[in-house]
Amino acid sequence: MSRRVLVTGGAGFIGSHTCVALAAAGYTPVIFDNLCNSDIRVLERLRQITGSTPQLIEGDVRDEALLARVFADEPFAAVIHFAGLKAVGDSVADPLTYYDNNVRGSVALALAMQRAGVNTLVFSSSATVYGQPDHSPIPEDAPLRPANPYGRSKLMVEQALSDLHRAQPGWRIALLRYFNPVGAHESGLIGEHPQGKPNNLMPFVCQVAVGQREKLQIHGGDYPTPDGTGVRDYVHVMDLAEGHVAALMHARTRAGLSILNLGTGQGASVLDVVRAFERVSGRALRFDIGPRRPGDVPAYWSDPSLAKATLGWRAGRSLEQMCADSWRWQQGNPRGYD
Ligand code: NAD
Ligand code: UD1
Repeated sequence: MSRRVLVTGGAGFIGSHTCVALAAAGYTPVIFDNLCNSDIRVLERLRQITGSTPQLIEGDVRDEALLARVFADEPFAAVIHFAGLKAVGDSVADPLTYYDNNVRGSVALALAMQRAGVNTLVFSSSATVYGQPDHSPIPEDAPLRPANPYGRSKLMVEQALSDLHRAQPGWRIALLRYFNPVGAHESGLIGEHPQGKPNNLMPFVCQVAVGQREKLQIHGGDYPTPDGTGVRDYVHVMDLAEGHVAALMHARTRAGLSILNLGTGQGASVLDVVRAFERVSGRALRFDIGPRRPGDVPAYWSDPSLAKATLGWRAGRSLEQMCADSWRWQQGNPRGYD
């Protein structure tokens, strides 16, 4: 039985960490990535962590001919599909690019798998499919009302794969809805390096701490939360990576479709993150509390109990560890892999 797993988007932030977790579990990750938001030098870092350099197939998931060749060349046990675009603002400005990449790319991949007889697939969905939730913690059967094209592209793929499973119940599919992935591998060798000004909180905090940016703008201090700042469910990227391996192993044992939240089940406010980061870095972070960011949800966090019951997985790493590992990566690699 093949132990090779095709990891689309495997050169990116969550994909690269999942390659580490796959290798630790005895799988052989093969990365399929067009490098539109990643750096080939991640391969050498993966070698330093795991002892072997993963194979990279440089290509686009919308390239059906290439996918057909990849699946014809060697057997794969499964596919983990991370490849996609994820910037909410860009998806509003250029929706067709998002639907093309995220939806058409996923359909092309599933078609190539179907033709090759590979029917185990783990897909990167997002808590963004819930939109503004009625309450937290959010269970998987909460209403789905994504508020932007990025979120709708994720929901469309979930629906397409659910329809596929209904038509062909032999498929083994896990749709994983991540909450807010942060942190880095504990070695400090791989991590997240957004291009340009970061939109997300943790990369921004890191850049303030390392002196690349003067201060953090906190988007809103008047939310109905304990300290007035936005609350999210931050989850360590290595916990997420291990969640993918658990989902893969579960899918391999039985046909079916699982839809699972991957989060800690705990909310943390922006100020909780700032304070935790200050504790682990020993640096004071300058910040201003400004207006709310348009489109932001005040507070939400996951109900991760289904993932625990189904996979035996839980996100065990603390907010301090998320900050400490982000900080180690940032200090060692202030310009990413440059
Ligand atoms: P990332 O941008 O670091 O990784 C995505 C990878 O996919 C990149 O290496 C990029 O080069 C590649 N890629 C993009 N389009 C491609 C295409 N058409 N063909 C081949 N490769 C392509 O992002 P990430 O944070 O690691 O996210 C991975 C997945 O998880 C994405 O699908 C994203 O939507 C989803 N997700 C991310 C978050 C988050 O906050 N990071 C939250 C929820 C869901
Ligand atoms: C964003 C995306 C969401 C994606 C998620 C994954 C939007 C609208 N949503 O959500 O689709 O799934 O990332 O990580 O972009 N904050 C500040 N100052 C900053 C940056 C953020 O105060 O400079 C606050 C935000 O207001 C929010 C919290 O920090 O309260 C987290 O923000 P962010 O990291 O951008 O994540 P989300 O808003 O949850």
